[in-house]
Amino acid sequence: MFEARTIASSDKAEFYRELALQLEALLEGEHDAIANAANTAALLFHAMADLNWAGFYFLREGDELVVGPFQGKPACVRIALGRGVCGTAAAHGQSVMVADVHAFPDHIACDAASRSELVVPLIAAGEVFGVLDLDSPLPARFDADDQAGVERLAEIYIASSDRRT
Ligand code: SME
Repeated sequence: MFEARTIASSDKAEFYRELALQLEALLEGEHDAIANAANTAALLFHAMADLNWAGFYFLREGDELVVGPFQGKPACVRIALGRGVCGTAAAHGQSVMVADVHAFPDHIACDAASRSELVVPLIAAGEVFGVLDLDSPLPARFDADDQAGVERLAEIYIASSDRRT
């Protein structure tokens, strides 16, 4: 049985190094993209402080994101490419960090409690195939260290998982 260890470090780089090791151990030997997304969402949701949503959207039919495994309240199912924070990250193939979602004109509110958001694109063979989305009830919950750390976690998910979702 996988046991998530409490990560004591208050140093963010060290926190993400430890979380990356836990994620590698959690996904080791399993390649099913949905199963790995589910366990990745669960690990992040429980290991990271001050999150109210952690999960995946996968690109379908080329221009629409569809919700995948997540932890948190039920979410919007479909997001057009280019719309919202998720669709923006997917369209540009770049992470998007929003310190105050109320100040992001196209933010799509799934949970009214969300105040800040970090979305990291999932890219394999040069193509975006989804995003990893984290929401927080705290304003400005995420900084550059979080972005770098979560991008590394997304890489681990991508490397461990088949493309077929
Ligand atoms: N806020 C996101 C939508 C997804 S939910 O936060 C889970 C967005 O603007 O794309």
